[in-house]
Amino acid sequence: MTVIDDLATLEHEAAEALEAAADLSGLAEWKSTYIGKSGSLTRLSRGLGALPADQRPEVGRRVNALREQLEAAFEAAEARLKRAAQDAELSADCIDVTMPGRPPALGHIHLTNQVIQQVQEIFAEMGFQIGESPEVELDEYNFSLLNFADDHPARDMQDTFYVEMPEGSPSVLLRTHTSNAQIHAMRRHAPNPIRVLVPGKCYRNEQVTVRSEMQFFQFEFLAVGRNITMGDLKGTLAYFAERMYGPGTKVRLRPSFFPFTEPSAEMDVSCFLCDGKGCRICKHAGWLEIGGCGMVHPNVLRNGGYDPEHFSGFAGGFGPERIAMLKYGIDDIRGFYGGSIDFVEQFG
Ligand code: DAH
Repeated sequence: MTVIDDLATLEHEAAEALEAAADLSGLAEWKSTYIGKSGSLTRLSRGLGALPADQRPEVGRRVNALREQLEAAFEAAEARLKRAAQDAELSADCIDVTMPGRPPALGHIHLTNQVIQQVQEIFAEMGFQIGESPEVELDEYNFSLLNFADDHPARDMQDTFYVEMPEGSPSVLLRTHTSNAQIHAMRRHAPNPIRVLVPGKCYRNEQVTVRSEMQFFQFEFLAVGRNITMGDLKGTLAYFAERMYGPGTKVRLRPSFFPFTEPSAEMDVSCFLCDGKGCRICKHAGWLEIGGCGMVHPNVLRNGGYDPEHFSGFAGGFGPERIAMLKYGIDDIRGFYGGSIDFVEQFG
């Protein structure tokens, strides 16, 4: 065996072993076995000194050539294995961008707002404009100008939230109803005719029960003009009831009292669940009470800037929560603002 043969065997073996190195640690082992400090090639080159002098240059060249060849092969294999290791790592935590995403949980319009939108639409169809009125209001607009007597029980601290004001300031409160909108609307538009619908939050200092909340919404509708009659009020209500509760729904007015209307009435709609025959929702009456209404009191018209000799009007107020409760058979008003997602999600 000559050194040349040994080199050829080494070259062959090293090539096979390199092929077999499956990973970086196998490759490191290969390096120390063949080209490391105490590897086969180094050992072989140490034997060069024992060769006859005429063979040394040739064998030396071959040894160097083989070392360069093996080192290059090592670097190529190392690059390949590093890339493979990186690829494996990447594909282990890769994201499949074609997978369908998780849909975000979408909210929806709160039941009260759904009803408010629906009521606004219905009144808009009859030519009513949508208006606003202050939530924090002067006592004057909430009560006095609406013909409430100074000693009316609604003004009691027990019923109304008053705002603490500096000495000598006018009395300020959280509106107890949206009827305050009547004076604002009339003063803004008198002596022109008006048709306005005003939704808004109202507050009453009341015990919270299944039927009453301290805060709730109301709608005020108001029409003022020449020759407006109770027939117009009834027609407006009849249209509203049919659109809100379905064709065939009837309206009934029962005499009542409100300081700001004369005559005043409670408005009932025929029970849409039993068609007036009597059921649990209408408590077997066949009718559901939805709010109050009447012909605008002459004092209120005057306070709003209209001459009651030439102008008349109708007004009414009702609550969207009550409308929703009747429509969906909800028997506890506290669900509306109690913050329970379970309640709210039923009406998506
Ligand atoms: N403001 C009354 C309430 O809160 C409801 C009402 C009754 C409004 C008669 C009106 C009306 O406009 O004419 O109970």
